[in-house]
Parts: sequence; structure tokens; C-alpha cells
Amino acid sequence: MTSTALTAPELEALRRLAVQVARRCGELIEDRPADLGVAATKSSEVDIVTVMDRRSEDLATSLLSAARPDDGLLGEEGVSRAGRTGITWVVDPIDGTVNYLYRIPSYSVSVAAVVGDPTVPGAWQPVASAVHNPVTGETFHAAQGAGAVLADGSGERTLRASDADRLEVALIGTGFGYDAARRAEQGRLVARLLPQVRDIRRLGSAALDLCAVACGRLDGYYEQGINAWDLAGGWLVAAEAGARVSGADGAAPSPTLTVAAAPGIADALLSALRESGG
Ligand code: IPD
Ligand code: CA
Repeated sequence: MTSTALTAPELEALRRLAVQVARRCGELIEDRPADLGVAATKSSEVDIVTVMDRRSEDLATSLLSAARPDDGLLGEEGVSRAGRTGITWVVDPIDGTVNYLYRIPSYSVSVAAVVGDPTVPGAWQPVASAVHNPVTGETFHAAQGAGAVLADGSGERTLRASDADRLEVALIGTGFGYDAARRAEQGRLVARLLPQVRDIRRLGSAALDLCAVACGRLDGYYEQGINAWDLAGGWLVAAEAGARVSGADGAAPSPTLTVAAAPGIADALLSALRESGG
């Protein structure tokens, strides 16, 4: 895993920028056209992109480029630029696009500064990030080694993952990809896990799922098939809140498997997933 020699003030500056950009993009996506529709489909007919996904990514790109012109950029809707500083900004301009389209208030903008190459699983890690839900006004943010915070209309609080210590009473979030064959496999895995846990939630934004683990709204979360932009912002928030974030068998989180869990159930969740075929 890549390490960083960034100082605490440098990390704080990256965190502040992440918060600022995520909130500006959040304002933009809430100012939606009345006739908002699906602009295009991506990997399948159910994998949609709205015109606002693109506008949000364009805004994030211009704000980040203005503030830090030498950093790299990687965004879900296609922005990809190599940098010269060792830092790359990984952006999900709307995470939970289907919720956004249906006006289900569970979507977010995720902005993360990472070190290493975010296109290679296991070769990168987030060092500062923000995940903002523009409907609730909640901003989850974190800097490496400095903890995770939830800021909302009533102030700021430091986040801690839950103290769950038994899988049988743990509330677990998950998500499903857009490819039909992958979904069938994910359905088989969740069917095997469901009898072993308190219940399952599918909230619709991987970034918010990871933040939910950070603040104890979920005891754990797992998903197969998520990308760097779904993962980067929430990974750091969950880890800085004391959750264990990994892939299968202690590897780095990756598209193969990402698991975030309160420390008291992390081993049990990982082994239940392994035994269930995950
Ligand atoms: C999706 C959401 C969803 C997760 C999918 C992601 P998008 O991102 O995070 O919760 O289950 O795997 O692709 O398409 O809404 O940006
Ligand atoms: Ca996403």
C-alpha cells in the first residue's frame, strides 16, 4: 500500500477543499431542471447517467483544477487526468443516481484526495475526503490520522463505528451492480447471508453506506463490484471512525469485494461472506 508524507496541515487543507467541492456540487445537483431525464445509459439499460451527473463532475473538475492544478483527477463520468504531485482527486459526482432520479433522499457527492494509482486495486489509499448528502445537508468528512466528522445544521460531531459484537444482531448494508449476471450472483450471496444477521439494507449510495458504518447507522456493509469513485470518500470516513475496511482475506478493498464493519463484527462478517461464496 502506498504511504504518504503529507503533513497534518496539508491533510487538513485537502479535507477542507474536499468539503467545499462536495458542497458546491451538492448545491448544483439540487438546482435540477424540471424535466430532468436520463441522459444516457452506461454498462446496461439500468445503469443511467443524468445530465446533472455530468454537470456536477464538470464543476468538481473546474474547482479542483483551479485550486490544485498539478493534482490528478478521476471521475465516474469520464474525467481522467494524470497529475504531478502524487495526489489524485477521485470524484463521484452523484453517488446514488437512481435515487436522485426517483427523488429518494439518499444520494451524495463524494470527493476524495488519494495517493497511489486509483485505477489499480490495492495500489492506492484515500488521505482526505468528503461525502455530502445535499438533501439532508449532512457532510461526512475525514483526514488521514485526524478522525472522521459529521457536520450538519446542528454542528459537528466525531464519528465512531458501532460497538456491535455479534453478527446475529448486526444490521448490514449492501448494494447491487448493474450487470444482470452479477446481480444474480449478488442475490445468491445476500440470500445466504440474510438468515445470519439482524437484517439487510440496500440504501442505494455506496458512499453513504460507508458513512453509515462510520456513524453506527449500519453495523457493517459489503458490496462486490464497486469502483474507486464509489469507494474513495466513504472508505476514509469509515476507517477514521474506527471501522475495519478491507477486501476479501484482509486484502485492500477492491471491485472484487469491499467490506466495512464495526471492529467487533468484522471478522465474523468476513468469514460469513467467505462461507456464503463472497
Ligand atoms: C451506485 C451506488 C449503489 C451501488 C452501485 C453503484 P451510482 O453508484 O453506489 O449503491 O450499489 O454499485 O454503482 O451508479 O449511483 O453512481
Ligand atoms: Ca457511484
